[in-house]
Amino acid sequence: MPERANLGLFGRDLADRPGYSGRHAAVFHRQAFEMSPDDAPVRHVPVLGREAVEALAPRDGGIYVDGTFGAGGYSRAILKVPGTRVIGIDRDRTAIAGGFDLVDSSGGRLTLVEDRFSNLADVCAAQGITAVDGVVMDVGVSSMQLDQSERGFSFRLNGPLDMRMGQDGPTAADVVAKASETDLANIIYIFGEERHSRAVARAIVAARKEAPITTTRALADIVSRVVRSKPNEIHPATRTFQALRIFVNEELDELHAALVAAEQMLKPGGRLAVVSFHSLEDRIVKNFLNERGKRGGGSRHLPEVDQALPSFEILTKRPIVADDEEVADNPRARSAKLRAAARTDAPAQSETASFDWPQLADVMRGG
Ligand SMILES: C[S@@+](CC[C@H](N)C(=O)[O-])C[C@H]1O[C@@H](n2cnc3c(N)ncnc32)[C@H](O)[C@@H]1O
Repeated sequence: MPERANLGLFGRDLADRPGYSGRHAAVFHRQAFEMSPDDAPVRHVPVLGREAVEALAPRDGGIYVDGTFGAGGYSRAILKVPGTRVIGIDRDRTAIAGGFDLVDSSGGRLTLVEDRFSNLADVCAAQGITAVDGVVMDVGVSSMQLDQSERGFSFRLNGPLDMRMGQDGPTAADVVAKASETDLANIIYIFGEERHSRAVARAIVAARKEAPITTTRALADIVSRVVRSKPNEIHPATRTFQALRIFVNEELDELHAALVAAEQMLKPGGRLAVVSFHSLEDRIVKNFLNERGKRGGGSRHLPEVDQALPSFEILTKRPIVADDEEVADNPRARSAKLRAAARTDAPAQSETASFDWPQLADVMRGG
């Protein structure tokens, strides 16, 4: 991947090898991270990294949560500001392992934790931190995850049908084996926005009666038989794979829970910056900020005097998108959107949205 020009805070790029000796990485089991040099994470260009970190406005003495550590691009940029402290979270332990060198070179300013970002308040509490100056998230799958066939995210590479970012919970193969035809159709329609979701679900159920669907290739072939695409269109399995990935990782619930946690953890004036990659994610961020950015978001049935005050001031009336240069460098940046907000001194609002999309636990329970 080409080196990006004029990256500002991102001037130095990613470490070339994983480190195994993170002094602060006490939350996970060290031996599980030992990887051969061939397993070193591939380089990853952080999308909208400069803009996201600028929105965070890191300052000397500030404490920041990087909820999606990945290859550490955002954390590295924050750490360039002297006196900052970063709590880097990722549910993918290979991402955490890849950050050990940065932990070592940070002089005690970077702590890495393998966890879900929805748990960011507990993660901070375990470090004795009760309030933070910024929370940044660059949500979705990383290019390292997509590029490793054994992770099972890609229909272009054959591998086990896994798709889990973390190590826990059912795999995509488990979902494809267990979910009812109706649940599969709903999952593929809601999280993949696939018009042919019913036909895909029917084809999966028919195929699994013949043999278990355990590889990315097998699933991509099944989908390709019922979803046609023209040569210049996206691969027919794109939407089905996206749907299963979002569902298996409970990505939308995670995102909403993390926004709620950030609202509780941010100090007045603290910044929230979220980069998302598709409309489903962006809608969650946009709706959350719109709700929290106006009076009464928490209790619209109360008289105006009793209504909650805005807990966020929205800093991006319209989302920031990547410029042509960044898109030319990194095609993934095309659909990226950054939204940012500053925490006010009003209390966190209590109302949390409820979503009616399929839930992983229910589907796996057969309910
Ligand atoms: C797009 S990458 C982030 C790249 C990062 N900004 C960088 O500069 O390298 C997204 C990362 O977030 C992680 N992730 C996604 N959802 C998560 C969640 N709910 N909790 C924790 N980590 C998550 C993924 O494992 C992945 O490593």
